[in-house]
Amino acid sequence: MSLVSEQLIPWQKKFGRNNLPWQNTKNPYSIWISEIMLQQTQVKTVLSYYQKFMIAFPNVKTLALADEDSVMKLWSGLGYYARARNLHESAKIIYKKFNGEFPSSLIDLLSLPGIGRSSAGAICSFAYNQKTPILDGNVKRVFARFYGIKDWTGILSVERKLWNLAELNLPENKIDKYNQALMDLGATLCIKKEPHCYKCPISKTCKSFIYKWTDIIPATKPKRDKPTQKSYFYIFQCNTKILFIKKPKKGIWGGLWSFPEFKEKLDIEKWIYNELNFKSFSLLSAGIITSAFTHYNLEMNYQYLELKEPRGKNNLNGSSWHENDQIDNGAYPAPVKKLVKKLLKDRTI
Ligand code: ADE
Repeated sequence: MSLVSEQLIPWQKKFGRNNLPWQNTKNPYSIWISEIMLQQTQVKTVLSYYQKFMIAFPNVKTLALADEDSVMKLWSGLGYYARARNLHESAKIIYKKFNGEFPSSLIDLLSLPGIGRSSAGAICSFAYNQKTPILDGNVKRVFARFYGIKDWTGILSVERKLWNLAELNLPENKIDKYNQALMDLGATLCIKKEPHCYKCPISKTCKSFIYKWTDIIPATKPKRDKPTQKSYFYIFQCNTKILFIKKPKKGIWGGLWSFPEFKEKLDIEKWIYNELNFKSFSLLSAGIITSAFTHYNLEMNYQYLELKEPRGKNNLNGSSWHENDQIDNGAYPAPVKKLVKKLLKDRTI
């Protein structure tokens, strides 16, 4: 027995959760339903859903023969609805391929949709007393802290290391109590913020407790650099008016007025002559501003041009000329308003 399990099992008996509706049973179906409901969901949320679900579908057969709507209805509000569809699908597979007999091997359980390594480990240990590790989000945090693993646990090599450590610590006996202890420790003491180390049965040998690393472990997911998208904006001014185009409903700034915008730089002299129908122009200023969106940054390359000698109507669909002192109160994107303000101000300096 490892030192960890030696401490955790008696602690679980005294301080752990021992009377949840899916405990004190070896029925693999009841345990399976609870494990799926508890994925990414807290115990207190699961409780009422679990009772109703078990009354409606008390065994594999009733779930396998149920129509999808009635399954989804009982899942409504619990979120991550793929779980319910997978549960239903798995019940059908167990009913047909496994002749209604709940699988008891890790491999067979892993072959069912919606059952990953940690859920399979929980079912095997809780229902069949098999020596299988678990590693859900809470348990990852416990091991990462205990062993002082500072890298983000979502990295594949780190996850592999954690599975190995989880395996190494498995006790020969009372595996169900031990796995429940890990879950309970992660959910009640070794919590993300301000863990209750002073109550923890394994703090004396926990690296994060000893070195005061609980604030930095587990590491947060590294933020991905947002990609940058380049666009070319042309601000055309004629007397006191600026040319705007209404953005299509779908996409950024949908329904707002913006400047004519292009993915590539224009041959501006030709374009002004052919599309805008002006004979001449002058460049007033140019520059770059950046706008941040949720999934990318927009690099707005702009040129501010004064148009002269109109030849007739322009060819741009959905365009119109707006008085430059009316922009601040209208339906324009914030960066557009900001840029107009800056350009007008610079002109008066
Ligand atoms: N989370 C996942 N499985 C659990 C269980 N059996 N008890 C409490 N929380 C859990």
